[in-house]
Amino acid sequence: MEIIRDVTAMQSRVTALRQQGRQIGFVPTMGYLHEGHLSLCRAARIENHILAVSIFVNPAQFDRQEDLENYPVDLERDLVKAEAEGTDLVFVPEQKTVYPPGYATFVEVESLSGRWEGAYRPGHFRGVTTVVMKLFHIVKPHRTYFGQKDYQQARIVHQMVKDLDMDVEVIVLPTVRESDGLALSSRNVNLTAEERRQAPMLYRALCGVADRVKSGEQDARALVEEMHRVIQEGTSATIDYVALCDPESLESLEKVEGPAVALLAVRFSKARLIDNLLMNTH
Ligand code: PAF
Repeated sequence: MEIIRDVTAMQSRVTALRQQGRQIGFVPTMGYLHEGHLSLCRAARIENHILAVSIFVNPAQFDRQEDLENYPVDLERDLVKAEAEGTDLVFVPEQKTVYPPGYATFVEVESLSGRWEGAYRPGHFRGVTTVVMKLFHIVKPHRTYFGQKDYQQARIVHQMVKDLDMDVEVIVLPTVRESDGLALSSRNVNLTAEERRQAPMLYRALCGVADRVKSGEQDARALVEEMHRVIQEGTSATIDYVALCDPESLESLEKVEGPAVALLAVRFSKARLIDNLLMNTH
């Protein structure tokens, strides 16, 4: 496994690989790798000649300094995990390499970026799309892998790739969960023991709504209220939002008559968690 820290070195390496006809699969991460990331690595390993992983805690996507400071980091452990998955190239740039002094260019997907996570974390998706665009230019992947756990992020990256005619295939893979349903997230380490005990209630709220939709309930407001109730009664978390939306536009639905996605975000004392569930009523 090669560890590359320099932008030009990474670009020359992948350019040479592409010239040899090698297909590059890319998993962008902010490190603190868990099974969710590793499931993306495994798929990329199988579907491509070369597996490239980036590890970069991107300051541009943190709206609060405290969140950035609390973000867990363990590079040594990440490198061991990446190597165990058969990673060929790990790109680990420094902040000043990605955003040198005078950096001035940002990428923004309008409208989708302002909803839900975007409304609670101003500038977040602008930071995500900017760094993802830069990483695509540096790693030059044929395919890139994202988790459905960050549903809105994956939707926005898809939109950016489509709108800007980028020659990369975006593959979104299912959320990996603990046995009790909690979606894997690097932020879960910031839950207290009691919050960790409560956190599976988020997935239970999502599944409860999916069951009601399956039994014919179409009133989105009633379904959203039910999710609120389950989370409020079962956890100490503060709800940022709970929503039932169109999976493409991410606009709130009034009636669930076709495909829908339930989205939620809550705040525990030191961890903000998001989760979602796609529903197809057909
Ligand atoms: O999902 C993440 O970990 C990050 O948002 C990403 C895509 C690596 C960009 O920093």
